[in-house]
Amino acid sequence: MSSQPAQQAGEQGSPVGLEVEVEVGPVAHGGHCVARHEGRVLFVRHALPGERVVARVTEGAPRDSYWRADAVAVLRLSPDRVTPPCPWAGPGLCGGCDWQHAALPAQRALKAAVLAEQLERLAGLDAAALAPVTGDGGLVVEAVDGDGVDVEAGLRWRTRVQYAVGPGGRLGLREHRSHRVVEVDDCRIAAPRAAEVDPRAVTWPGAEGVEVVAPQTGEDRLLVVTPRRTGDGQGRRLRLPNPPAPSSLAVVGDEGLARVRGRTWVAQEVELPRGPRSFRVTGSGFWQVHPGAAAALAGAVVRFAGLAPGEAVADLYAGAGLLTAALAEEVGEDGRVVSVEGDARAVADARRNLRDLPQVRVLPGRVDRALGAMAADDEHVDVVVLDPPRVGARRGVLERVASLAPRTVVHVACDPAALARDVAVLAELGYRLDGLRAFDLFPQTHHVEAVARLVRA
Ligand SMILES: C[S@@+](CC[C@H](N)C(=O)[O-])C[C@H]1O[C@@H](n2cnc3c(N)ncnc32)[C@H](O)[C@@H]1O
Repeated sequence: MSSQPAQQAGEQGSPVGLEVEVEVGPVAHGGHCVARHEGRVLFVRHALPGERVVARVTEGAPRDSYWRADAVAVLRLSPDRVTPPCPWAGPGLCGGCDWQHAALPAQRALKAAVLAEQLERLAGLDAAALAPVTGDGGLVVEAVDGDGVDVEAGLRWRTRVQYAVGPGGRLGLREHRSHRVVEVDDCRIAAPRAAEVDPRAVTWPGAEGVEVVAPQTGEDRLLVVTPRRTGDGQGRRLRLPNPPAPSSLAVVGDEGLARVRGRTWVAQEVELPRGPRSFRVTGSGFWQVHPGAAAALAGAVVRFAGLAPGEAVADLYAGAGLLTAALAEEVGEDGRVVSVEGDARAVADARRNLRDLPQVRVLPGRVDRALGAMAADDEHVDVVVLDPPRVGARRGVLERVASLAPRTVVHVACDPAALARDVAVLAELGYRLDGLRAFDLFPQTHHVEAVARLVRA
């Protein structure tokens, strides 16, 4: 990874703006590749392993151990390079996608490499240790089905789009690591029904953000508006336009979600392992954004859980109850599922979504507290399913999980580093990684979802 200077540093010794020729090394977690310039690490976006590029420094100070940079010219191309399908993907443009310049199979290989690297670095699991876990084909990031017209090309899959509001109340998407709003005409990864809401058609004065929630099936489409807050906590005057396509409209307020037009929730239809089911999801409450994601994850979780009728399972970080429902169908009415969720609106949705399943008990509140109460009651569970937010479950929760002594823990993770840290803690607590699948639920971006099975050693 040798480098040659191509241009002098910026003003006052800042390296920002400096352009250097570098050899691009391996991919790193976060949507960039590693290069070196005069012994210092550069994290280079818009590059691919094996390329030689001109990298322009975008962030860093003279004494920093690493700088961030964008590849602004490619001198030797990777065979995996393609022309980005979106004209807004590139240095200084929209920051939503990281890998538009890589062919889809290559994007998945990059994500598999990142997941393997994080598990090796943070959980001490090298390729030899992973081989029995991932099977003969090694770690593969699997594509998921979807109904969108272009999902197979990695486009038109995003059923939710979070727009930022820029100058003049116009909608756009943020530049990478910046507050600057780029006024894209069309987000190419937005699903067809989400993309029908043309961000340029109307303005949103006084708003901070507008989320378009447009499930792939059914007629629902909901716009959730977050008002801009001033320093004193007061909202600026919000002026709501007539949205350009038929949609429900709701505003985030101190008392929850205020309905302006239509309804404050959408219906999500999912094909679970034992048949179709409909879920109500309020406002911006958590739901997977790829149309094929919910079914793929529910299928993988049920398979890894390996439940028999009559068994007991805890579904932690349960959201609107997607995985709880799939698990409840496995254990049947003679079994038990405890479904723990901290967000009050998601709890209300879960109660409604799961009310036909008498084997389910929805426990509102924090996961660590719920686990403490379950341990105090000597509650037996055969399997624990965890689907924590991006930071992972972390030691305090994992210790409580281990104290319940389930035979299997199934961990769903959207961040490879957090998964690897949790796997390392679970290993200390006597749980061995025994199965791992990864899914490309976020094509064109660096994000990847993994499902891990850990069994009591
Ligand atoms: C990644 S989502 C998973 C949702 C659900 N399993 C699904 O597949 O739709 C994480 C959920 O955990 C909830 N959550 C985050 N921290 C929590 C905590 N400490 N205790 C309870 N719930 C929490 C969030 O409100 C969110 O619904």
